[in-house]
Amino acid sequence: MSQLSITESLYLKTLYYFNQIKFFWLRQKLKSRVSFGENCQIWEKNFQYRGKGKIYFGKESALEKTFFPTIFDLASNAEVIFGERVYLRGKYAPNVLTGFENAKIIIGDGSGLNGCVITARNLVRLGKRVLVSWRVSIMDSDLHDPSNTRKAEIKTVEIGDYVLIGAGAIILPGVKIGSHSIIGAGAVVSKDIPEHSIAVGAPAKKIREIDNRDLAG
Ligand SMILES: CC(C)(COP(=O)(O)OP(=O)(O)OC[C@H]1O[C@@H](n2cnc3c(N)ncnc32)[C@H](O)[C@@H]1OP(=O)(O)O)[C@@H](O)C(=O)NCCC(=O)NCCS
Repeated sequence: MSQLSITESLYLKTLYYFNQIKFFWLRQKLKSRVSFGENCQIWEKNFQYRGKGKIYFGKESALEKTFFPTIFDLASNAEVIFGERVYLRGKYAPNVLTGFENAKIIIGDGSGLNGCVITARNLVRLGKRVLVSWRVSIMDSDLHDPSNTRKAEIKTVEIGDYVLIGAGAIILPGVKIGSHSIIGAGAVVSKDIPEHSIAVGAPAKKIREIDNRDLAG
């Protein structure tokens, strides 16, 4: 492994401490709305919040220093609850989490969001160690009424543990995805996917069974 020069190491330390100061002020400013568990690593510049809802970060969660921010747009009484060791990354796209009034977005321990959109009118719940790739959309409502006579329904989305959601997939309202499953890149998931499945395509269909994923990288 290459050693850092003294200048590089000084630069990184300065960045780190500068961020810690900004993070301190962020915590002060939003302390009635956002709570951070022990040892959270938050890159302040990438944390964007608007609205009135609440966010809880479990301990050791991280909002990384990547190219794109994580944006929270939360109406009153909306809540985003992150478990422990959740990481938010914006390598190729921003994460955008929108919670309408009284909605909840729950993300389990060890899960990672890397540039996705999650929109909740009631509840979107991800289990533990779920990996959500870039340009994935997850929504629990169509958001617009289909017609004059038909109102948009709100249908909870539930994703189990150890699920991988490939790049560009779309998870539609009411869908349940069982634990240890993989949703292929670009899939449009409109119906439930049983656990231990690989599902691909639009509409997504199971193409094969898959073993446990709890130790998969
Ligand atoms: C689904 C996936 C995991 C491959 O699973 P697999 O069991 O190895 O599947 P195979 O590659 O053997 O393909 C089986 C069939 O499904 C098709 N297929 C594979 N992935 C597909 C996808 N995303 N969409 C549509 N069809 C797909 C293949 O073309 C093949 O079709 P065929 O039987 O007609 O030849 C992989 O293609 C994928 O989409 N990975 C997600 C990658 C990603 O987004 N990573 C994010 C990094 S954070």
